[in-house]
Amino acid sequence: MRSVLRPPAPRKATRRNGAGRSTAPRPARSGPRRPRLHVLVTAGPTREHIDAVRYLTNESSGRMGFAVAEAAARRGHRVTLVAGPVHLPTPAGVTRIDVVSARDMLAAARTAFRSADALVMAAAVADFRPRRRIAGKWRKKDGDSETAVLELVRNPDILATLGRAKGRGGGLPARRVVGFALETGAGERRALAKLRRKNADWIVLNDDSALNAERASVILFGSDGSRRRLRPRTKREIAAVLVDLVER
Ligand code: CTP
Repeated sequence: MRSVLRPPAPRKATRRNGAGRSTAPRPARSGPRRPRLHVLVTAGPTREHIDAVRYLTNESSGRMGFAVAEAAARRGHRVTLVAGPVHLPTPAGVTRIDVVSARDMLAAARTAFRSADALVMAAAVADFRPRRRIAGKWRKKDGDSETAVLELVRNPDILATLGRAKGRGGGLPARRVVGFALETGAGERRALAKLRRKNADWIVLNDDSALNAERASVILFGSDGSRRRLRPRTKREIAAVLVDLVER
């Protein structure tokens, strides 16, 4: 009798094993092999310059996004981290692209998204930017009135732009898209509205107590109608749950 080495039977195409995903073993964990995904993460604030030294920005430490990037890399995934201006070290094994404005972030994320399997949009993107950036410094002039008007224009919505483009066609599974909602009131209703409007698979709802905090309590809303509240836990622990979501 001869023993025959057979290649493994082809698996049904799923979100997890679609073409373009490497099935290299994940180095940091033992257990069943999982496909190696390309996970795109955005983190931190964006800066929208008024002049050479002033800008509009959002409050954001970048810690949540960096924790997701780190967690995904530790599980052996390929990770691209598009980061706004933050003072955080790059997690091991992560490819980092530093950006300043929302438009820079969209350009970098759009390029990386082409080969990505998942997007975790943790950045606090400024919704508006000054209509024009003043060269040098915006100077007060003698006789200026006590008020000034700064004209703003809308920035692109990165999550909505990429969420609309998440389908890959050709029978490939759609990319999994996770967004965040930081709300100060009517959080659940607003988070659900964002889930739909931005065509995300998940929205992570947190409130402003999460800003700069080590621990947070979040609710995960899924486009499948699911709702899961996580008890207060560290951003590292929340990051692990989010990587579980994109691996599903
Ligand atoms: N987001 C984005 N591009 C923007 C604004 C937000 O990609 N221009 C993303 C954020 O990264 C986050 C999600 O959208 O994942 C929700 O962000 P949030 O600021 O809460 O939502 P907005 O659409 O700005 O809604 P609003 O300010 O009206 O609450």
